[in-house]
Amino acid sequence: MPLKVADHPLITHKLTIIRDKDTSVKKFREIVEEITLLLTYEATRDLPLSDALIETPLCPMTGRVVKERFVITPILRAGLGMLHGMMSIFPVAKVSHIGLERDEETALPRTYYYKSPPDLAGSHVIIIDPMLATGGSLSAAVDLIKRGQPSTIKCICLLAAPEGRDRMNRDHPDVDVYVGALDERLNEKAYIVPGLGDAGDRMYGTL
Ligand code: PRP
Ligand code: URA
Repeated sequence: MPLKVADHPLITHKLTIIRDKDTSVKKFREIVEEITLLLTYEATRDLPLSDALIETPLCPMTGRVVKERFVITPILRAGLGMLHGMMSIFPVAKVSHIGLERDEETALPRTYYYKSPPDLAGSHVIIIDPMLATGGSLSAAVDLIKRGQPSTIKCICLLAAPEGRDRMNRDHPDVDVYVGALDERLNEKAYIVPGLGDAGDRMYGTL
C-alpha cells in the first residue's frame, strides 16, 4: 500500500492553518516547512544505520549513524516550498529539480525542466510536492527518477485525493507516498476538495 497517511494531531492542526484561505503567504510558507519536517520524520523511520566508533565524555562506544546518500527532488514550483525544511535535515543532500506544470484545461502535466545529479544509482531519492491530485505530476516525476535507478524512491505530499492515491497505486506500486491527509475528492477542475487551493499560488502570492 504505497499511500501512508500520517494522521497525526500536529499535522492535522497545521494543515488546518494552511487550508484557511485567510492565512498569509508568510504563515503559509512557515507551516508548509513545519509539516514537511514532521512528514520527513515519518518517511525516514526505516533508514539503514551504520556503526560509528566514537568516544563519549565517559567511554568509547559504537554509535549508529546514517551514511546513506540522499537526493531531494522538489517538483517545481510548489515543491520548492518544502525544500528548505528538507535541507535542514539533510544538509549535504544533492537536489534534483523537476519542472512540471498542469495544463489548466486538461489537468495533464507537462515537463518543462529536469536537472539531476548524474549518479542517482545507490542513492535514496525523496520527491516532494505539496499536492497529489490526479497523480499525473507525481507519476511522471517518478518515471523520470526511475531512469537513474536509485536504491529507493519515496514521496512526501501534504495533501492527497483518492484519485492520486489510485493513480500511484496503479503506476508505481513499489513507491511509498507519505501524506499529511487524504481528502474527499477532486472537483471539476481537478483541484483537491476541501484542499488548500493552488499550492504554488498560495506559496508565491500569485493568486
Ligand atoms: C500542482 C502541484 C502538483 C500538481 C498536482 O502544481 O504542486 O505538482 O499540481 O496535480 P496532479 O496530481 O493532478 O498532477 P501545478 O501544476 O499547479 O504547478 P505549480 O506548482 O507551478 O503551480
Ligand atoms: N494543484 C494544486 O495546487 N492544488 C490542487 O488542489 C490540485 C492541484
